[in-house]
Amino acid sequence: MARSDTEARSGLEAASDSAAPALIDLAAGHPESAALPVDLFRAAAAAVFARDRSSILNYGAERGEGASRRALATFLAAEHGVEVDPERLFVTAGASVGLDLLCTLFTSPGDTVVVAAPTYHLALRTFADHGLEVVEVEGDREGIDARALRSALAAGPAKLLYLVPSFANPSGVTMSPERRLDVLEVARAHGTTVVADDVYALLAFDGATPAPLGWGREGVVNLGSFSKILAPGARVGWIHAQPDVLDAIEASGLVQGGGGLNPIPAALVAEVLASGAMPAHLRALRSTYADRARGLVAALERTLPDVRFLAPTGGYFVWARFPGRDARSLLARAHGLGVAFQPGDRFTLGDRWREYARLSFSRYPASVLAEGVSRLRRAVD
Ligand SMILES: Cc1ncc(COP(=O)(O)O)c(C=O)c1O
Repeated sequence: MARSDTEARSGLEAASDSAAPALIDLAAGHPESAALPVDLFRAAAAAVFARDRSSILNYGAERGEGASRRALATFLAAEHGVEVDPERLFVTAGASVGLDLLCTLFTSPGDTVVVAAPTYHLALRTFADHGLEVVEVEGDREGIDARALRSALAAGPAKLLYLVPSFANPSGVTMSPERRLDVLEVARAHGTTVVADDVYALLAFDGATPAPLGWGREGVVNLGSFSKILAPGARVGWIHAQPDVLDAIEASGLVQGGGGLNPIPAALVAEVLASGAMPAHLRALRSTYADRARGLVAALERTLPDVRFLAPTGGYFVWARFPGRDARSLLARAHGLGVAFQPGDRFTLGDRWREYARLSFSRYPASVLAEGVSRLRRAVD
């Protein structure tokens, strides 16, 4: 079969020939190794170290080097179609670090954080680390229910509202423009800071990137990351927020003590951005992940016709309901048959989503995903 240029550039074509592994791990939300652009980083490292010599090895500017933030601002403006002021950016070591910093600086143990349920399970872990009370508000195909959110906030104040607005982990849902406005209004009226963790936003299969939620508004903090679109090992992400939020982060002991969180990786990523390689890399990722999502969806429809899900339009995940099945028991059997997934109850602190599984399609070509679904079928049987 002919391979497209974009696939060749992403390096993903090599994996499409690979045989199915003993364990097909649909649990991890990781890119596969072949998708990681080693050549881009090799060239970036050569350029950065040739130019910057020893200065790059010293403590870095607290918010990230000016050059890194300018490159990031140019990239975000081009990809999201919004204005981006580099002074509103803080370079993090990934979205997880951004979220942890916000919890450290803007919450106290016992405070409430409202989340859109089901929610990213490791954000729940971060909230637990900080002793926060989590209130879960469910939603529909347009995102968290604004009316239910209003009731939750009327019942008790919340410091933060945590959302994954685009191609959410685990549900795959992207908030509609109307829902975004409603939710922002409810949060504003109750003085709750919105944290928009948008690490999948640039992975719309049709390339129509959703606008970042509440960009530049008072009371909104946007988290982003290169983990899902370039390399999680780089540990580079960003916070976009109002000056008072960034001032507080800069004044923190962590940042004052250590300086910029990651000057060397941030410089490498900035060099990749400046090289102009990102648009083609993103096009290749979108096309590959779209193919994989289609492959997984087709395999589920063919092999497990009772399973219910919304076909994903971006991101990494299918959120699948196995009617009448307990996903934990299914997982125990599936493991023995060589396939794994995340059981739905990981994405809540309550007793919901027990019939659900999060299936990640990012790591494997369609043929391996189809074999994974066949193994799942045997587990169901
Ligand atoms: C919603 C969400 N936020 C954050 C992360 C982690 O991002 P980072 O690697 O930038 O810390 C993930 C990874 O699974 C995620 O799904």
